[in-house]
Amino acid sequence: MSTASPTASRILLIEDSPGDVLLLRKMLAEVPGGGFCIVADTGTLERGLALIASLEVDLVLLDLNLPDSRGIDTFTTAQDAAPGLPIIVLTGQDDSELALHAVHLGAGEYLEKGGFDPRLLVRTLRYALERSHYQQALAREREFFTTLLDNIPDRIYFKDDRSRFIRINRALTRLFQLERPEEAYGRSDADFYDAEHAAQARVDEKLVMETGEPLLNKVECETLHDGTRVWSLTTKLPLRDRKGIIIGTCGISREISQIKEMESALESERNLLRAVIDNVPDHIFLKDAEGRYLLDNAAHMRWLGAQRRSEIVGRTPFDFFPPEVAKIYHDADLPVLQSGKPVVNREEKTVDTYGNIEWALLTKVPWITEDGQVHGMVCVKRNITEQKLAEEHLREANAELAQSREEVLSAMNRLQSAHTELREVQLQLIEAEKMKLIGRLAAGVAHEVKNPLAILKMGLDFLKQSAPADDNTAVIMKEMEDAVHRADSVIRGLLDFSRPKQLEKKKVNLNALLEDALKLVKVEMKGAFEVVRELDPKLPQVALDADKMSHVFVNLLTNAIHAMDKGGTLTMRTYAKQLTGVGENIAGSASESFRVGQSIVLVEIDDTGHGVPEDKLPKIFEPFFTTKPTGKGTGLGLAVVKTIIDLHSGTIDVRNLPEAGARVTLMFQA
Ligand SMILES: Nc1ncnc2c1ncn2[C@@H]1O[C@H](COP(=O)(O)OP(=O)(O)OP(=O)(O)O)[C@@H](O)[C@H]1O
Ligand SMILES: [Mg+2]
Repeated sequence: MSTASPTASRILLIEDSPGDVLLLRKMLAEVPGGGFCIVADTGTLERGLALIASLEVDLVLLDLNLPDSRGIDTFTTAQDAAPGLPIIVLTGQDDSELALHAVHLGAGEYLEKGGFDPRLLVRTLRYALERSHYQQALAREREFFTTLLDNIPDRIYFKDDRSRFIRINRALTRLFQLERPEEAYGRSDADFYDAEHAAQARVDEKLVMETGEPLLNKVECETLHDGTRVWSLTTKLPLRDRKGIIIGTCGISREISQIKEMESALESERNLLRAVIDNVPDHIFLKDAEGRYLLDNAAHMRWLGAQRRSEIVGRTPFDFFPPEVAKIYHDADLPVLQSGKPVVNREEKTVDTYGNIEWALLTKVPWITEDGQVHGMVCVKRNITEQKLAEEHLREANAELAQSREEVLSAMNRLQSAHTELREVQLQLIEAEKMKLIGRLAAGVAHEVKNPLAILKMGLDFLKQSAPADDNTAVIMKEMEDAVHRADSVIRGLLDFSRPKQLEKKKVNLNALLEDALKLVKVEMKGAFEVVRELDPKLPQVALDADKMSHVFVNLLTNAIHAMDKGGTLTMRTYAKQLTGVGENIAGSASESFRVGQSIVLVEIDDTGHGVPEDKLPKIFEPFFTTKPTGKGTGLGLAVVKTIIDLHSGTIDVRNLPEAGARVTLMFQA
């Protein structure tokens, strides 16, 4: 082994003859500049091959006849072990055929032992190394080319001067549905595409070959034999030989079916959009920053009075309207163009070409580009004149309606209160009529019965004095006397009820009247009675008919005593007060005569008796309503009382007390 300069080519010598090894080493050592260096020499192939990789050898000098390998096999074994490494074969003088065979199989060169001098050796070595470098570079170039051809999705082909394929890439092989590219070689477009495309391609390629000018980016639709349609972007170039002579064409085409589909989808979308905006009755238009129309729809075009779009594009309202009208439109758009702020659904009053007033609902949106500049605006304008007029009418109609409604409501209210009044009056009339009738009947009956009763009474008095008084006769006489007395009291009651309604009023002390009445009814108290007096000593005097009022008190006290058949407590209460209206229950038909703030006098008679059944309460003032047995009550007491109280414009109220018994309350103006 010998040391080598860093730039020297590293040679491995596989040679079993020590004489030849010595000779070669000597020859190379003498090369001026030391361009070569034998980094190792071995006597066997096996050892030599083992060293190739580790020694980073540039070239192998190989004797074909070695102890472990002979002849051409030596070369092929070495070549397989180190593909691409230049090998120079050393042969004997009579072995030139074997050497040529090795060169044919890829040996860099051969040298006949004893047939070369240092100069030939060096030249051969250099030539072999250069050839090896050149071949490696070529192989790399080919690799690049093949990688490109086989991996690019674009379709690439090379054709001869008769437009027959001489090379196609993998993408085109796939399109032709071939197993291998070679299957296409020698065939033309007509073998794969429909006749129309094949003919057109031939024409194009001929032109390229004739003119030497490329055909760039032609969009074509190719139809394959199976009917598949492919949109392509094709470029065709003249194919030249080394001398520059045109020998065919080569081309690349990119499939753009997807782009084409998108394009047509876009186109139909655009058409649809056009159709929509042209059929919308609203005016739609696009203006640039200077107020020139760029685009509009059919409605707007008609409004401007134009026939074609070209009459509008680039023009302004000043081209269509008198200057003063055009200025209104122009000025209305300025704020949006200047501020870049949209206006949405704004109602505006405008004037058309003929000076007619128009109401419009406007939406103006600025057209702002990516750089943030306002390049114009889109406007949508809807004519709402009719709507506005209808709204106006509706408002007026509504106002009228509201007024009529008020009137109807107040008329209804008036009607309602009139109806209520009428009903009250009617009820009063019925009541009055009823009472009058009963009064007349009572008076008639009383008058007819009064005289016979007087005769009966006189007869009884006479018989009591003159007839012999045996016991039986006395009892019968007593019963007769009682019956006449009862009949007389009924007659008196009837007469009281029907008596002319005239009062003889004078100021009376109600406390005294009550005390007198109590004395008169004392006889009725049978049992344990307690009388409680809660009489206000300062009770103001009241202008009343004293006789009628004592009749009232007698009746009320009698009723109270009758209700307590086993005795009880009778309370007589009088007091005066001012009406506040709060929490006061002013009952009775004359309640309207009492007003808040008025001074009133009240009389209350409470008992602890059985009270009035709730369902009977509304009836107790009716004439002849009684719950008492015959002979005990006629049912006229409260009817007379009510008549008298009404004549005094007072009120009477009967209610049950929560504990037991009833309370009668009389109320008069003080
Ligand atoms: N203080 C009272 N407690 C319970 N019931 C009463 C009271 N006052 C009146 N009533 C009921 O009212 C009815 C009618 O009373 P009203 O004074 O008109 O007639 P009367 O007492 O039955 O007969 P008369 O004609 O003799 O008075 C009575 O029968 C009785 O049922
Ligand atoms: Mg009574």
